[in-house]
Amino acid sequence: MLRGENSIGPDEAARVEAAREALLGWYAASARALPWRARGTTAWATWVSEVMLQQTRVETVLPYFARFMERFPTPRHMAEASEAEVLGQWAGIGYYRRARFLHAGAKAVCERHGGEVPRGVEALRALDGVGEYTAGAIASIAFGERAALVDGNVERVLTRVFAIEGDPKSSAVKKHLWALAAGFADHPDAGAVNQSLMELGATVCAPTAPRCLTCPVRSMCRAAQEGEPERYPEKAPRKAPRDEDWTALLGLYQGRALLVQSALGRWEGMLVPVMVPGAVDPASLAGRAGAHAVMDHGVVVHVLTHARMRLRVFSATLDEAPTEGTLVSMDALAGLAVPKVTLRVLSAVRSSGDAAPRRRR
Ligand code: ADE
Repeated sequence: MLRGENSIGPDEAARVEAAREALLGWYAASARALPWRARGTTAWATWVSEVMLQQTRVETVLPYFARFMERFPTPRHMAEASEAEVLGQWAGIGYYRRARFLHAGAKAVCERHGGEVPRGVEALRALDGVGEYTAGAIASIAFGERAALVDGNVERVLTRVFAIEGDPKSSAVKKHLWALAAGFADHPDAGAVNQSLMELGATVCAPTAPRCLTCPVRSMCRAAQEGEPERYPEKAPRKAPRDEDWTALLGLYQGRALLVQSALGRWEGMLVPVMVPGAVDPASLAGRAGAHAVMDHGVVVHVLTHARMRLRVFSATLDEAPTEGTLVSMDALAGLAVPKVTLRVLSAVRSSGDAAPRRRR
């Protein structure tokens, strides 16, 4: 069947309808009871939960969501908080860009919509930091609009049920997936439809070892019929993370550690030790920082999505109280916006303590 760029053919449309009915029945009977699904949930709570869930599992999100909603029950509470506090509350679940986007979105809602989350995908998309997925999720789940969404779970379910070949990140496959998702969402309870697709992906149609025997759409799933559902979605060849050498120098002053606000995109604004790219002579780095008695704490390998950082960690005693940065007690990091790399450097320094000879590898 020929298919227009942004539409689906009658054969697919009929299969969408059948799959949707099966999914809705299954979802009504077996949806997990999650706090953001409770009766009376606000659009803001839906927004917060969807942003948290984008790269993080439900079990991890639960305590963060509860703390976040207690501290920021409305967009205004967040808009009036400092970025440092928002990032501090986020610390631990990673991908801090999401917290910055949420903060920017909350401010935009207060400036342009009197503090109320606006309805409609267009208005939502116009908010800072709200992408296609988040707009579709808020519009359908919080406001019951017929708005589509595609996330990793939906992508997996749809590529399997419809046996869609090709790289799911290519524009042709993406368009096909969004067209199918729009077909699914064209329903009075689009919020439940969208959540049923995501829930199936999260609990049944798993990336590996999908539980096809308990799947409500098994009889309509082309991938299951072919016998090898895990073949979908196709995996784009993954680029190996590049190796990066870094030198970290933790300044110590009267038992406390000096952290500075990172200017680097990946941790922008968060507190990190002094870190410079390359294998830099620690003595000259310490000299520039006004520190002496350099100690070598070995190498920490820190793996990020696109980079494998080999961090040579040194510490040194600061001659005077620093005029820039923040001195932190190593035991009191809770509530500070510190990324994992900071914790790893601190722990390298603590665990090799004062016994670290300068030349140890
Ligand atoms: N993953 C992200 N958002 C979700 C939702 N609302 N329901 C189920 N899984 C999800």
